Amino acid sequence: MSISIGIHDLSFATTEFVLPHTALAAYNGTEIGKYHVGIGQESMSVPAADEDIVTMGAAAAAPIIARHGTDRIRTVVFATESSIDQAKSAGVYVHSLLGLPSASRVVELKQACYGATAALQFAIGLVRRDPAQQVLVVASDVSKYELDSPGEATQGAAAVAMLVGVGPALMRIEDPSGLFTADVMDFWRPNYREAALVDGQESINAYLQAVEGAWKDYAEQDGRSVDEFAAFCYHQPFTKMAYKAHRHLLNYCGYDTGKDDIARALGQTTAYNSVIGNSYTASLYLGLASLLDQADDLTGRSIGFLSYGSGSVAEFFAGTVVANYREHLRTEENREAITRRRPVDYAGYRALHERSFPADGGDHPTPSQTTGPFRLAALSGHKRIYETR
Ligand code: CAA
Repeated sequence: MSISIGIHDLSFATTEFVLPHTALAAYNGTEIGKYHVGIGQESMSVPAADEDIVTMGAAAAAPIIARHGTDRIRTVVFATESSIDQAKSAGVYVHSLLGLPSASRVVELKQACYGATAALQFAIGLVRRDPAQQVLVVASDVSKYELDSPGEATQGAAAVAMLVGVGPALMRIEDPSGLFTADVMDFWRPNYREAALVDGQESINAYLQAVEGAWKDYAEQDGRSVDEFAAFCYHQPFTKMAYKAHRHLLNYCGYDTGKDDIARALGQTTAYNSVIGNSYTASLYLGLASLLDQADDLTGRSIGFLSYGSGSVAEFFAGTVVANYREHLRTEENREAITRRRPVDYAGYRALHERSFPADGGDHPTPSQTTGPFRLAALSGHKRIYETR
């Protein structure tokens, strides 16, 4: 019998500020129904000048370290597609901010929004090799598109941290995985750009093709059938995309695609993403947090996961919720991470969006805007300087 490995703890953090879509719509004249109903987004998390993927990642992981300690963690895998350095892993800063042991391996992974799922699978492999160890997976991203572009309304930012180990308290991850890779240019960000480039319609089509491909392979790996799942978590670039994806999957499998069936399978996975916006690598796992926090008892039930990363790679896999999982949820803290955000007006958001560090190697302190546990204090001599409060 194979050992049970999976998600032992899950915690997330998001930004200091929030921009409601009503403010964006008032500025650009968009009918608000397009945002609230058409793409299914209510507001977006906006990073302060002294926040980035490291401060969010450390804030997400700190409660996990506080609860479980560091003794068993020998690996930190940091997944992101909004990387801050071409060489050094953002995970090394997080490792330092959290005071993790020097006897650790730390690495950053990238394949667009899919990276956290690769991290989770790598973590499971490491734990299988040595069940005494735990792996800290951190998925952290800032989603940034050009101002006044169609993608702007889907921006957001958040980090999810997961502790992976044997005898997981939340969810056991099952073995069969359906895999899919296709070389497409639906969404990408060349090294010289801060904002992503995207072909909107192509990206939606590429996502749907990837759902089909990953599911087809999952079925060939003797995976579960669609009706065995209590719910489905999808990568949510905007929450309406999960509905499109699930309808496509049901159609492909020859099932009814009634609105109620789809809402039943997904409805509880979108609450956090609809107010945070796209958090790329973290998005799928925010969907899981939202589901676990809201659903009636899911003990013993299977959850389907579809992870998509533009470019493109997708994976379909399943998890089974374990007994007593509710005792280990962080529902209150999760709600607090969302409600503590301070509203920013459109002008304030725009100023933050346009902000970037000079590349002259000088001493550039950041304005102190955050109230969270970690902040990016300065860029000095081309080095990021972080502070713990
Ligand atoms: N009331 C209700 N609904 C309305 C409406 C109104 N007043 N006005 C428009 N809508 C609906 C439209 O009918 C449409 O619905 P359907 O998709 O069901 O047809 C929806 O609102 C969106 O309208 P448009 O297609 O006209 O919107 P758009 O051209 O401004 O672009 C977008 C939408 C392509 C998603 C754009 O926001 C974008 O480029 N986003 C970034 C890319 C992205 O997220 N792609 C998703 C797949 S890629 C991926 O998943 C990886 C990743 O994280 C980026």
